This record gives sequence, structure tokens and C-alpha cells, in this order.
Amino acid sequence: MYKLLHDIESVKQALIYLGPQKVFEIILTSCFLELTDNHVGYGLRVQSCWEHSFGVALVARNLGELSGSVRPELAYVSGILHDVGQVLLMNQCRDEFRQAMQLSADKELDIHDAELKVFGTSHCEIGALLAEQWRFPEPLAQVILHHHDKQIGQSIPLVQIVNLADRICTDVRLKCSAEEPSQHGGNGVYGEHLHELEQQLAAVGVTDLAAFRITLGRLIDEVREAVRTIYS
Ligand SMILES: [Fe+2]
Ligand SMILES: [Fe+2]
Repeated sequence: MYKLLHDIESVKQALIYLGPQKVFEIILTSCFLELTDNHVGYGLRVQSCWEHSFGVALVARNLGELSGSVRPELAYVSGILHDVGQVLLMNQCRDEFRQAMQLSADKELDIHDAELKVFGTSHCEIGALLAEQWRFPEPLAQVILHHHDKQIGQSIPLVQIVNLADRICTDVRLKCSAEEPSQHGGNGVYGEHLHELEQQLAAVGVTDLAAFRITLGRLIDEVREAVRTIYS
């Protein structure tokens, strides 16, 4: 993602080129990848969970840029960490979490609702407890707790943006799943509800839908390519 025309010959040069914000994003992203990496072989496609988080981060950052209402860097960090509660559930309760994933796939339930049936709680509440313990900034804690709320219109703009990015990524099949995706087109945007979701973008201040759609296609390809590279 950060290829240059000239070689970068030292770590110092690389750090100066990227800047502290990008370095922070790369470290955070790598740490999250490491957290999720030891679940391969438990019936979960960890790669798909990673695609989802990375996808939500990139789409949320793009929505932040297009809307002007949310700092893009904050949107990115929130996107990477919005489902951090799921990492805990995967870690601590693998069988039940796999059961929730299966229930979600079989009954076409939102994963949040499937978790409520299996655990009596969800990754949002679990993640919010972690956010409190680790003293995450308040807006990030709000995202983790509220990103699946039904009454999302009453939330702060950051939560609304991550909620939309989450649903958009799920719609274009960048979603955490137990099974191989049935169709995994190499390019393009093929979500069933994308048009409907696009109508909701105006509520967060994104009015240039053409620009959004072009960027979305590129971001999806970028996510798949990056994750493929990491896992190959
Ligand atoms: Fe979630
Ligand atoms: Fe999510």
C-alpha cells in the first residue's frame, strides 16, 4: 500500500516517510492480526474475520473523509477494533462462538443476535468491558458498544459511520464467517443491499455517491489483495 518510486533504505527513512499516524495504524493493524491469528483450524475462517475488520477500517476512513464529520484516522482505528469483543469470544469460548456463527449462517441472523441466543450477551458488551478496562477513548468505546444498535440515528457520527461501514462490508461479503464464501468475485461491488445502504450515507454527510462507489470497489480489491498476501 505504501510503495514508492525510490527505495527506502533505512527504518528511519521509512518512519519519516510514513509519519507517526500511519506508523501507529500499521502497528495497531499488525497487533490485531496477531491477536486473531491463532484461531486457524477451529472451524472459523480467521482470514474472513480479518478481511472484515480491515475492510470496515478502510471503508470507515473513506466515509470519514467524504463526510468531513469524523476524523479519518479515528474512523480507521475504530474500524479495526469495532469487533474486538469477537476476538475474546473466539479465544475464550471457541465452540460456542462457532455455534453462534453457524446459527447466524443457518437462520440468516445478524451475528449480534445469534450471539445473544447462544451467550445471552454479545461481542458488543464484551468488547465494551474490555474498552473500559483498557481505558480506550470514549468515542472508540461507544463504537464498540453501539455499532449494532437498531436506533443508530441517535448515535454520535463516528458510531453511525462504523455501523454503515460494517453493514456495507458485510453486504459485499467482507464478513467474518465459518464457511468458504459461495461467490468471491475478484472485482466489483455485488452487495444485494448496497443501493439501500447508499441511501443512508446522506445521513452521515456523504452525498457524492459516484465517488463513494468507485472508491469502494478499489478498497474491496485492496483488502482482498492485502489479506491474500498475508495468508499466502
Ligand atoms: Fe460487530
Ligand atoms: Fe463488524
